[in-house]
Amino acid sequence: VKQILEAADGGKSLIGQKVTVCGWLRTVRGQKSIVFLKVNDGSTVQELQVVVLANAPGFEEVKAQGTGASVRVEGEVVESPAKGQAVEISCSSAEHRVEVLGAVDSKAYPLAKKKHSIEYLREIAHLRPRSNLIGAVSRVRNCLAMSTHQFFQDRGFLYVHTPIITTADCEGAGEMFRVSQEKAESEPKEEEEFFGRKAYLTVSGQLAVENYCCGLGDVYTFGPTFRAENSSTTRHLAEFWMIEPEMAFANLEDDMDCAEAYIRYCVSNVLEKCKSDVDFFTLRVGEPLRRTSPPNESCQSYSGGEEVISGDPSPKDKEVKERLELIASKSFARMSYTEAVEVLQKHIEQGDVKFEFEVAWGKELQTEHERFLTDHVCKGPVIVYNYPKECKAFYMRLNEDGKTVAAMDVLCPGIGELVGGSQREERMEVLDERIEALGLPKEDYWWYRDLRRYGSVPHAGFGLGFERLVMLATGVQNIRDVIPFPRYPGLGDP
Ligand code: 4AD
Ligand code: MG
Repeated sequence: VKQILEAADGGKSLIGQKVTVCGWLRTVRGQKSIVFLKVNDGSTVQELQVVVLANAPGFEEVKAQGTGASVRVEGEVVESPAKGQAVEISCSSAEHRVEVLGAVDSKAYPLAKKKHSIEYLREIAHLRPRSNLIGAVSRVRNCLAMSTHQFFQDRGFLYVHTPIITTADCEGAGEMFRVSQEKAESEPKEEEEFFGRKAYLTVSGQLAVENYCCGLGDVYTFGPTFRAENSSTTRHLAEFWMIEPEMAFANLEDDMDCAEAYIRYCVSNVLEKCKSDVDFFTLRVGEPLRRTSPPNESCQSYSGGEEVISGDPSPKDKEVKERLELIASKSFARMSYTEAVEVLQKHIEQGDVKFEFEVAWGKELQTEHERFLTDHVCKGPVIVYNYPKECKAFYMRLNEDGKTVAAMDVLCPGIGELVGGSQREERMEVLDERIEALGLPKEDYWWYRDLRRYGSVPHAGFGLGFERLVMLATGVQNIRDVIPFPRYPGLGDP
């Protein structure tokens, strides 16, 4: 369908050709001797019109079908009299045919209706890939994954597979899931752990990838990570994918430059390669994004689409496409944590804004503060760097002032924190002091400390939450709708 409808001339050069199209019916409109089908095959958000006449084999069978049935169509590409598309498929003779491969009982089919709330789609995660929204999200997600590899491969980074099962808590935040062997009823419960010690699902591939960086140079890992944060927010998942590059002989500035170039590359690629999906998001998702409405207000519908998106508390001033173009074309603002605190305090004093949480040097920046910085102060992405050491993880390099660390977060409008990264502490004594000060078990990190013992190098890296990047590229508001099968507290099937 994409090959036909998204050809440079809208498919006109194919007129007169016989084609085979396989896909799922979106709509069936039948009359006595003519039936109009709209077919989608997942290659694009667009639907291809198929006009079947009574003399084409399969006419009666397809006429009796409804939304969701799978078909195979053999017909001819003809010019379309319908608006919005240059061509359609005609099945008008005995040489053409329509075959119903999988019928649908319309009364039972959960997606038979035209409009569904996004929450309802979440309950039928196994069928929602057939919706326009999840289809478009899936194609953009695929484009972002390919862009990720392309970006790092073009720059000579080596792709390293880091383990899922680990023993060390990278972030030191105690948000890990335990891994243990499932034992049968009959087996003694007290038996030793499978690994002979406690093991967890990884919260980050960073520490492992640092080992490869400090031996092979620039590397990256891209895999699933797990966090047992019991927060049911629109930006957190228990299982999410993370891209973690690590650069040898690099400092914080190199780190910020890399993160910015990577994000802008991904966004440009989506604009270029997923045009019809971006248009769809701009039209169907961008619309309610620009409305102001209290949370949990009844679902808002918007014309022409099949999905309905709940009201979101944060009004967006930019359409999805416009926002992406802005990100792709303009360099990101950068400010130190200290400057960020000063700017926020100035706006509080001037009465421009009231926050729930206090803004004071040494305190974490809360979501509301980050949002104010991106939406009002910088009107776009901003990189905040040099955070107080108390706010950040043990491995971040201590700055000369002894108070801050060479950390950076990339904050984006509507998303908040997209990237967290830092220059790593390469000095053994300083690293040990940090590990001790935070009360972490030093012996667990012996292999990590060895990197500082043998040929230590300045190095830096970051982690980008892949689902948050998909949210940015699509304008989708809830992280549960940008991953095929979201995992969060109260997990459902499948
Ligand atoms: O800031 P975080 O915790 O940083 C790290 O894990 C570092 N070890 C990364 C590194 O330097 N190699 O997480 C990185 C990013 C966040 O900025 C956010 O985008 C995403 O991962 N993230 C989550 N995404 C979805 N659900 C969650 N529960 C997430 N927690 C973090
Ligand atoms: Mg972080």
